[in-house]
Amino acid sequence: LENGVARTPPMGWNTWNTFACNINETLIRQTADAMVSNGMRDLGYQYVVVDDCWFDPNRDGAGNLQPNLSRFPSGMKALGDYLHARGLKFGIYQVPGARTCAQSVGTYPGSTGSLGHEVQDANQFAAWGVDYLKYDWCSGSGTINDQVASFAKMRDALRATGRPIVYSINSNSFHCCTGPQRSWTDVSNMWRTTEDITNRWDTGNTNGYPMGIKNIIDINVPLAGHAGPGGFTDPDMMVVGRGGMTDTEMRTHFAMWAVMAAPLIAGNDVRSMDAATSTILKNSRLIAVNQDSLGLQGVQVSIDSGRRVLAKRLSNGDVAVALYNPGSGAATMSTTAAAIGKSGSSFTLTDAWTGATSTTSGTISANVPSHGTVVYRVSGGGTGPSPTSSRLVSSSSGRC
Ligand code: GLA
Repeated sequence: LENGVARTPPMGWNTWNTFACNINETLIRQTADAMVSNGMRDLGYQYVVVDDCWFDPNRDGAGNLQPNLSRFPSGMKALGDYLHARGLKFGIYQVPGARTCAQSVGTYPGSTGSLGHEVQDANQFAAWGVDYLKYDWCSGSGTINDQVASFAKMRDALRATGRPIVYSINSNSFHCCTGPQRSWTDVSNMWRTTEDITNRWDTGNTNGYPMGIKNIIDINVPLAGHAGPGGFTDPDMMVVGRGGMTDTEMRTHFAMWAVMAAPLIAGNDVRSMDAATSTILKNSRLIAVNQDSLGLQGVQVSIDSGRRVLAKRLSNGDVAVALYNPGSGAATMSTTAAAIGKSGSSFTLTDAWTGATSTTSGTISANVPSHGTVVYRVSGGGTGPSPTSSRLVSSSSGRC
């Protein structure tokens, strides 16, 4: 979406993966303070997103949304001010239908979705200083055309406010539209491509709830051509630091999100991170790959027994290569400089995890542990016709 924001994948934090409906302004403020003091903000984690359950179950007499005052006694404008004063940005959650997901499943009362209130709500968000809206389908019904119309209505309402607001949509909640049924670049800055993530490697779900890291990678990798500045595929908020996986699997999660140009939205409790979690989320080499100004999603250059090689072309001519091994044993994985779109006879490989450098005349290879991912930044030589240069246009299959 060409609205001036999200030229690179949005980075930040969201309440949902750890706190679900149990949120309040103290949590948000403490999280914001932690993101400043632990260095996350300065690494680019900017958007602090308050997900479902922030609102009063009733609109006021004029139909305006109201905060849940027992949770947010200072109100949403004050919360936005608090974030802005610390160099952070304010994200909030709403839905196009009558009920948010929590309201739909009955874990939160009321019926305060934006249906029929789109312009009013967009204006309210702008007045509160909102910089990011997560807009979530939360319905098991509706055609793809219904979705396009609903999501476009809020896109237009946000634009009309004149405030730059990242527009993040989820057409998949309630098992509606997992997968490549549409590219939403014309509607939003980022669009969910899968069911909700959970902190497991593999749930066995290829089109069901919830999904593990491997399941999401399988769906999101083929969508590479759809991403670019202003519009990114969203394989969901991260579960790094949520337990349930090995450190190797957590590193794969972060590395693959980085190379897929996914929004990097942390979902752990950043007030109390262990060292391994902190090292993963703050890997500046991978953040640089993710935030590269070309905004390209890494393209798969080969696959062998499920082991994938991805290449992401970068603005300075370097190419990031991911060697992803979902297999049950370690494997030597290889590609070549030519296969990733590099020309020349001498290249430097920088390992994104260790920082170690090596040189090669063309072969790019590593022994990759089970469920591990090695990422190299490949520099030197020329950047030839690249497998990562294309960007597909919107298409729709009508399944929803
Ligand atoms: C859906 C979304 C989640 C979260 C919840 C809130 O499940 O996919 O990311 O926003 O709704 O209820």
